[in-house]
Amino acid sequence: MSLAIHLLTRFDPHTGTIPGVGESVRRLSDLRGYFVDEAAYSAALSQADPILYATSGVEPAAGAGDLHYALARLMPGRIGREYYMTKGHYHAWRPAAEVYVGLSGSGAMLLEDEAGEACRLVPLEANSVVYVPGYTAHRTINTGATPLIYLGIYPAAAGHDYGAIATRNFRKVVVEIDGRPTLLDRLAYRAALGQGAGAHRHA
Ligand code: F6R
Ligand code: MN
Repeated sequence: MSLAIHLLTRFDPHTGTIPGVGESVRRLSDLRGYFVDEAAYSAALSQADPILYATSGVEPAAGAGDLHYALARLMPGRIGREYYMTKGHYHAWRPAAEVYVGLSGSGAMLLEDEAGEACRLVPLEANSVVYVPGYTAHRTINTGATPLIYLGIYPAAAGHDYGAIATRNFRKVVVEIDGRPTLLDRLAYRAALGQGAGAHRHA
């Protein structure tokens, strides 16, 4: 492999930006159906359509064994009791793992195996690394009051598969209760809101 490829990237860990690299942004309207509290989502969207998160991807090479990485900035906030979060995805190449490096702010990663049987909430904050194994759906959640900035490093061949999560979402949700992030079953939170058992984003 040639050393003529892009070798060095400088980034700002406080703003979550890479000078010269464009951002891919996700607004509240892009996450229709992802948050449990439908009334809170509609009310928020009728007021504004803020950017929830932005990513700056760097893809130096795409051969076998190469890596890609992305700097991300996830804003603080909530829809109802549920914290702002990313859509979440599997890697299209299921065996592909990923390393997340926390840079600024505080939050967590929701990790779920494909059968939906094992679900873990792992802290993501400055000076911490989260290892996301292959075959694992992953979502980032900002539970703090400032932007959560992190770097994700993954195989160039990983790809993104958003379909399963967009359809059935994660089994668990992270909500604020008594000022603290709390992991609940999605169905239990839906029931508490009087929204019945349907967990489908298109319901
Ligand atoms: C790449 C990766 C992250 C996410 C970022 C945004 O594989 O996991 O860079 O892409 O956290 O989340 P999604 O892609 O779920 O909208
Ligand atoms: Mn990923």
